[in-house]
Amino acid sequence: MDGNGRWAKERGLPRIEGHRQGVESVRDVVRTAGQIGVGYLTLYAFSAENWSRPRHEVAALMRLLEKYLRDETDELHENNVRLEAIGCLQDLPGRVQKQLQKTRQATAQNDGMVLVLALSYGSRREITDAAREVARLAKEGKISISDVNETLIANHLYTRDYPDPDLLIRTSGEMRISNFLLWQISYAELVVAPAMWPDFRKDQFLRAIDEYGKRERRFGGI
Ligand code: IPE
Ligand code: MG
Repeated sequence: MDGNGRWAKERGLPRIEGHRQGVESVRDVVRTAGQIGVGYLTLYAFSAENWSRPRHEVAALMRLLEKYLRDETDELHENNVRLEAIGCLQDLPGRVQKQLQKTRQATAQNDGMVLVLALSYGSRREITDAAREVARLAKEGKISISDVNETLIANHLYTRDYPDPDLLIRTSGEMRISNFLLWQISYAELVVAPAMWPDFRKDQFLRAIDEYGKRERRFGGI
């Protein structure tokens, strides 16, 4: 989700107003994804690198996140959505962690779409954590070197319970991955949407899905 700040700047508004409108896009896209039968939707809501933004912007984003979770819990539950999160969740403010825990618990039994929020998430960190855990298992003699394969690594990523994404959408026209699910997107189709995230609503989302539908996926075959 990219372009909140630019959306606001173009209108002479403070960046936080872009983030606020961005929450509306989240609502719209989550609802639409559920309706069309998406199994897993992962939103890159806050990266490990985003902590370097000015303190007031980080604080505002954390407040918005807490409010979104609080306000949306009932609707997510009614729509049979299960909320989960990946990233260094222990770095989030206590209030956000508590609310996250509440929303996860309230939706834990739902078996519709899984909505995964990537929070304080960085892909290199995730892969490094997996490597460390695998090294520990080897050192303790629980696995041998020849047990280290792609499945073992994948099973130590934060996403171990989810399938790899089929489609990655980036908004605001930027052609960058920005440390997002680097391992998992090996064969994902990429769609770059020109719209800033606050303008990325149902129509733009459906257009991206449409574009995905036209791609021929060969997974390295012919
Ligand atoms: C993405 O919009 C939202 C978050 C990082 C939470 P940006 O804040 O990156 O907006 P731009 O890139 O400055 O326009
Ligand atoms: Mg940005």
